[in-house]
Amino acid sequence: MNRNDTADYKELIVQAVEKDPGFLRLTLSGPTDTTRTDCTKISFRPVMIRNDRRIQALYEKPTQNAVANLEARELRACLQKTLALPFSRLHLQQQTGDVHIRITRKGKVLMSRSAPSRPGTEPAAMTHDRVRRYALEEGRPNVFLQAIGIQNEKGQVLPSMRNKFRQVNGFIELLAPLFADQTDRSLFLVDCGCGSAWLTFSLYHYLHHLRGLPARVEGVDLKSDVIAKCQALRDRLGWSDLAFEAAAIADYQPRAEPDLVLSLHACDTATDEAIARGILWNSRGIVAAPCCQHELHRQLSAPLFAPLLRHGILRERLADLLTDTLRTLVLRIMGYRVQAMEFVAPDATPKNLMIRAERGLPPGDDGAVKEYLDLKRYWQIEPAIESMLGERFTRFLAGR
Ligand SMILES: C[S@@+](CC[C@H](N)C(=O)[O-])C[C@H]1O[C@@H](n2cnc3c(N)ncnc32)[C@H](O)[C@@H]1O
Repeated sequence: MNRNDTADYKELIVQAVEKDPGFLRLTLSGPTDTTRTDCTKISFRPVMIRNDRRIQALYEKPTQNAVANLEARELRACLQKTLALPFSRLHLQQQTGDVHIRITRKGKVLMSRSAPSRPGTEPAAMTHDRVRRYALEEGRPNVFLQAIGIQNEKGQVLPSMRNKFRQVNGFIELLAPLFADQTDRSLFLVDCGCGSAWLTFSLYHYLHHLRGLPARVEGVDLKSDVIAKCQALRDRLGWSDLAFEAAAIADYQPRAEPDLVLSLHACDTATDEAIARGILWNSRGIVAAPCCQHELHRQLSAPLFAPLLRHGILRERLADLLTDTLRTLVLRIMGYRVQAMEFVAPDATPKNLMIRAERGLPPGDDGAVKEYLDLKRYWQIEPAIESMLGERFTRFLAGR
């Protein structure tokens, strides 16, 4: 081992994990100062998630493990942070061979190489990660999942809660990329129409305990009795950066510009209210999974579509599609980059559409304004979201 190799061992490791297609695993073990890390072991390995190569970090702790699937852009910072932790043994496994590093009590770095300990192993990224990993793990007893009634005392997901568990997991998985660049700045998230707050609690748990990100999460709902129960559970768990407020979305006043406004199945136009408030509060991200939709259902009429509108179920689906299309156009017009996608399989809920938007485009896009107005004029409809946004939105339509 030459001296430069030893001196630059951290960079050597970062390069191998980031760049080597034959990278198999990096393991840090033997913590020497438990005041600076609560992990007994940390490992990194490549995985494929939806055809994207990620590096999966596994943080092993005495009470509960945590997993993070890292995208390329967040990998270097995470590795550097991890390599600064007090571990005495590092083991890098590559297809070409292994690197063993030991750091003595006096801080001396001893490094050696050996033949591959896993000869012929394909990096997992080449094969596929067959084990489905969730933001919230199943089978591992977790006081919070038990308290919100998703798990029993053995850590099993209750059959009646399985679909909710899948929805919450799918939702979190798809909003996670919005935090990809997150460093140490505290996040602020608002869950509109939080109801019993499975998502709100889960998100707090995911950000604080699994991702280690400082975050304040607030849930808002009309129902004061439900909010009182959420507050009691929050107090029982001692999750001090989680807050609940009994209020209409339109009346709630956030303490700062949110990083993310979300809503999961907020009824009818409450989804529009969440999107509109997210825009007016200048939220960096807005993620909504709409619920039932009644507003346009009543307004739709067009002779060509009479055969479709005659049947309640077809009318309902058309109204849903049109409403969500108009929501995506409104977001685009207001300067958001928008995606519409499924966040969970349809058997977990037929209401499985997610609108995910991130601020960052110039507002008032001509093409989007034209598409919005064409649809509105064809169907002769007045989408509720327009009046919720008021002049901040209608000024883009003026004179068109
Ligand atoms: C179907 S529940 C969904 C609850 C939760 N997000 C979930 O996925 O489990 C819809 C919630 O939205 C709330 N809600 C509806 N309109 C609202 C409004 N304008 N402001 C605040 N909350 C509202 C209701 O009280 C209800 O708790």
